Amino acid sequence: MKYYIKTFGCQMNFNDSERLRGILRSMGYEPAQSWEEADLILLNTCTIREKPDQKVYSHLGEYKKIKEKKPTALIGVCGCLAQRMGEELAHKAPVVDLMFSSYNMHQLPELISQAQAGYRAIAILEEPPEDEDKLWDFPTVRDNQFCAYVTVMKGCDKNCTYCVVPKTRGRQRSRGLESILEEVRELVQGGVREVHLLGQNVTAWGQDIGLPFEELLYRVAEVPGVERVRFTTGHPKDMTERIARAMGDIPQICEHIHLPLQAGSDRILGLMDRGYVKEEYLEKVQMLREYVKGITFSTDIIVGFPTETEEDFEETLDVLRRVRFEQVFSFKYSPRPDTPAYSMEGQVKEEVKSERMTRLLELQKSIIGDIARSYQNTEQELLLESYEGGKLMGRTRTNRWASLRGEESLLGKVVRAKVTDSRAFSMECELLEVVR
Ligand code: 5AD
Ligand code: SF4
Repeated sequence: MKYYIKTFGCQMNFNDSERLRGILRSMGYEPAQSWEEADLILLNTCTIREKPDQKVYSHLGEYKKIKEKKPTALIGVCGCLAQRMGEELAHKAPVVDLMFSSYNMHQLPELISQAQAGYRAIAILEEPPEDEDKLWDFPTVRDNQFCAYVTVMKGCDKNCTYCVVPKTRGRQRSRGLESILEEVRELVQGGVREVHLLGQNVTAWGQDIGLPFEELLYRVAEVPGVERVRFTTGHPKDMTERIARAMGDIPQICEHIHLPLQAGSDRILGLMDRGYVKEEYLEKVQMLREYVKGITFSTDIIVGFPTETEEDFEETLDVLRRVRFEQVFSFKYSPRPDTPAYSMEGQVKEEVKSERMTRLLELQKSIIGDIARSYQNTEQELLLESYEGGKLMGRTRTNRWASLRGEESLLGKVVRAKVTDSRAFSMECELLEVVR
């Protein structure tokens, strides 16, 4: 039996898919090369904006053709859209045989048996079940041999007024320290060198179990064999001086942080209920720069939140100019049902959103051009993650992709390299030495 998983959305979803693959492997399933040869197709969905919702429906339209050739093939939908829509989605898409959310992933084997017996197997819970923690014990099947995502918490207790995540992923639940360390040790034994801690609001890890996030950083970095540690996503509100100090103290922590700004105007930040104002965000950036030498930043921006004026938008551009992010993920505001912002007055017109987005991208392009030039001829440490056609690819500690010519045997090595050609989104390097 073969499976095919199509994953949409964030890294949390990607890591969930790695877990689903672990469960499927334990059931004797093997990965299919394409959906056409699968006996089970799973769509792990995202619903953060309207676009990902639409993508799911169009993929379902395509995948349903499999039933013509192979009537026993099963199609399943899981993840955030499944959680948000529940039965309604099953109703809208009769082709779906099984459906579950991130709360029920461990029930996959039962759901498959039910679907094979001809029932529609739908398990969407309102609340996380008591035995949800079981999921941590499933071995995962991973694509990347050297860099691994480790989910350390689920859900989110913030109430950003635009966001569906608290609805789709529930309240904040931190994973226990020992369980995390156990997974990290196993990963390292299997050859992993970079650990990427994941959570919707990872800097809030531990708040619900009485532990500070920096403790997790120290303990993970201490595991012998861990070369690099990253974490996503940090919330500016939870970004304390103690975390910044830990980041500076721990040599394994990479000099990069993704710190979503969302908007630069204090009024809009207030309407979003982000819990900080522009100046506070800039102070956090400054604090991180002081503790972590050479740190780079990336961010998320929402353009055209309800009532956003030209002046408000200028404040966002001002932060971009001042911080000089290495990467900006920008999104047009997308009204999500059942969120407070959905029914706010003053929704911004689509053409205004598009026009502001274009200006934001233009500005960021020029900033990135300058940043790219500043890498030229510098020496960087790379962890070489993949190999194709005589080229090795790796990331700098500051999270920029770079490639260099070399032997496949260098895969998984940490090397020192000189940047010979630096462009906006790629860099060519020359090998100087293999460090470890
Ligand atoms: N509309 C547009 N962007 C959104 N995001 C979250 N919700 C919405 C929405 N309703 C963006 C935020 C978040 C990122 C993952 O997606 O910028 O940080
Ligand atoms: Fe999308 Fe959020 Fe779900 Fe991730 S958690 S898949 S970003 S809705």
